[in-house]
Amino acid sequence: MSALLGADEDDDRLMESELLSLCATLYSAGHRTTQDLFSNGLAALLPNRELVAAIRDGSLPVNAVVEEFLRYETPTHMVARMLNEPIELGGQKISAREPIAILLAAANRDSRTYANPELFDPWRWTLEPEPLAPLSFALGAHFCLGASPARMEVGIMLEVLIQAFPEIRLGEDPLHWHHTGVFRGLDALPVIPGRRDC
Ligand code: HEM
Repeated sequence: MSALLGADEDDDRLMESELLSLCATLYSAGHRTTQDLFSNGLAALLPNRELVAAIRDGSLPVNAVVEEFLRYETPTHMVARMLNEPIELGGQKISAREPIAILLAAANRDSRTYANPELFDPWRWTLEPEPLAPLSFALGAHFCLGASPARMEVGIMLEVLIQAFPEIRLGEDPLHWHHTGVFRGLDALPVIPGRRDC
C-alpha cells in the first residue's frame, strides 16, 4: 500500500479511485486464495502422519509441501482467456476472439508432467531436477502478483502449526467443498489440535 501511495512516474501518481480499486483487488485476490491453499493442503496432508513427522523433524522442507499443496489441491482451478489468433490444440481448431477456459487444476495433474499425479507426494519437489512448477498462479502477463507472498505465508503458517501442534489431526466431521468453477475450497476445516508444544 505504501508503494502504491508513493508510486510516481513522470509526476503522474495514482488517483484515489485507482488506489481504492487496487486495494480492493489486492485484498480479494490475496485473501481467500491463500486461506484456501492452506486448508485444502492441510486436508491432504494431515491424514499422512509420516509426512507430518518429517516436516516436524525438518527432513521434509516446508517449501516442498507448499509446492505440493499448490499442485495437488490448487484453490484456483481455472483462468479465462480470449484468443488473439486462431490455434489448433489437441486436434481441435479454436478461432480468434473465442473465449476459452484453461483448467489449471487439470494441468497440475497431467501424467505427462508429474509422475503419479493423483498421489499427494511433497517429496517430488526435493528431486533434481524439480518437476515443472504447478500452474496454480497461471502464466504470462497476468501471472499472479502475489505468488511469492502466498508461498511464504503458507510456508510460515505450516511450520508454526506443525511445531506448535505436532499431533494435529483432521476432525471426524465430513469435509464440505465449495466449487465456483474458478475457486475451490473448504467451508470449514475441522481439526483435533492435540497437545500444544510451544
Ligand atoms: C495461493 C494463493 C494464490 C493463488 C493460487 C493465486 C492465483 C492467481 C491466478 C491463477 C492469477 C491469474 C488470473 C488470470 O490470469 O486470469 C492471479 C492473479 C493475481 N493475483 Fe493471485 N493468487 C494467490 C495469492 C495472491 C496474493 C497473496 C495476492 C496479493 C498479495 C494476489 C494478487 C493477485 C493479483 C493482483 C492478480 C492479477 C494480476 C494481473 O492481472 O496482472 N494473489 N492469482
